[in-house]
Amino acid sequence: MKRNLSGGRLSPAAASARGSRGRSPSKALDAWIKRTCALIEKSLRGSVPATKTKPATIHRAMRYSLLSGGKRLRPLLCCAASEACGGTARLALPAACAVEMVHAYSLIHDDLPCMDDDKLRRGKPTSHIVFGEGMAVLAGDALLTEAFAVLAKIKPRSRYTAAELVTELARAAGSRGLIAGQVADLEAEGRKPTEPALYFIHAAKTGMLLRAALKLGGMSTDATAAQVVALDRFGFALGLAFQIQDDILDATQSAKKLGKTAGKDAAAGKMTFPALFGLEKSRVLAEQWTEEAIASLHSFGPRSATLRHLALRLLQRDS
Ligand code: IPE
Ligand code: IPE
Ligand code: MG
Ligand code: MG
Ligand code: MG
Repeated sequence: MKRNLSGGRLSPAAASARGSRGRSPSKALDAWIKRTCALIEKSLRGSVPATKTKPATIHRAMRYSLLSGGKRLRPLLCCAASEACGGTARLALPAACAVEMVHAYSLIHDDLPCMDDDKLRRGKPTSHIVFGEGMAVLAGDALLTEAFAVLAKIKPRSRYTAAELVTELARAAGSRGLIAGQVADLEAEGRKPTEPALYFIHAAKTGMLLRAALKLGGMSTDATAAQVVALDRFGFALGLAFQIQDDILDATQSAKKLGKTAGKDAAAGKMTFPALFGLEKSRVLAEQWTEEAIASLHSFGPRSATLRHLALRLLQRDS
């Protein structure tokens, strides 16, 4: 089962968001994703200790979750942001890997019995099913911690110190960022959805890390402050579109397609966009936030084509 961002056709909505009708997605984007994912995968493999390094169990658990596929959206955005600012994907690799390590940790913990209690992730049993709960908690802890050592390897830029990049990621992942969203997500279970609560959850639990991926990609290549602000705006809107789509997919796709349990949001009484707005309105909102994201790229000109096409590709994803 393919679970990446390559290939496929644009939905009519995505095509209209792009301002063209029914054209197949650019081969250039597929080639870029393939090329950039190869860099990311290689770099990720070198970002965590080998499975034989003692204690072997924790390193096996870390590698199991980090190297288990996934769309690699956050590192791809990080690399594309670097390119949009005139840099290269390679320059952004430490930041890209660090963000993906934080993402991998967040998924391990999100799947724990005390959180979303999920048994399936990326088509495989979740970390706690394979390694036990204690080891899954520790694998998440270790990935989060090691992420900062990976990020700190970044070459200093004239505008940004390594400490500033580290602070950016810490804030995005911390108790006013991703964690704030996860707290609100848990506390909202079984509650009547409201628009402000829903926007807060999605902007925090998902949006904060996407924003950090984009900003860190820009900062890795010494982007101007104005460029970093534009990337942040793009990330905010894309984060909403992406999580709305995640909610829609949970309600409409099979576990086989998703590689994770389907229909679990409704079963757990999660506060989601489909729960408040229904599926049709949720789809419209995902398109609108994607358009909003794309609008924030105008100052970059043609160099932001990859970011724009990635945003459109996300609208038509089915996993
Ligand atoms: C899943 O993220 C968790 C959310 C924030 C919705 P992804 O859909 O990016 O998961 P992978 O990395 O591709 O498995
Ligand atoms: C997860 O959101 C967000 C984070 C891990 C921070 P979800 O709970 O909706 O993600 P899935 O659907 O399990 O991938
Ligand atoms: Mg969750
Ligand atoms: Mg979950
Ligand atoms: Mg979900």
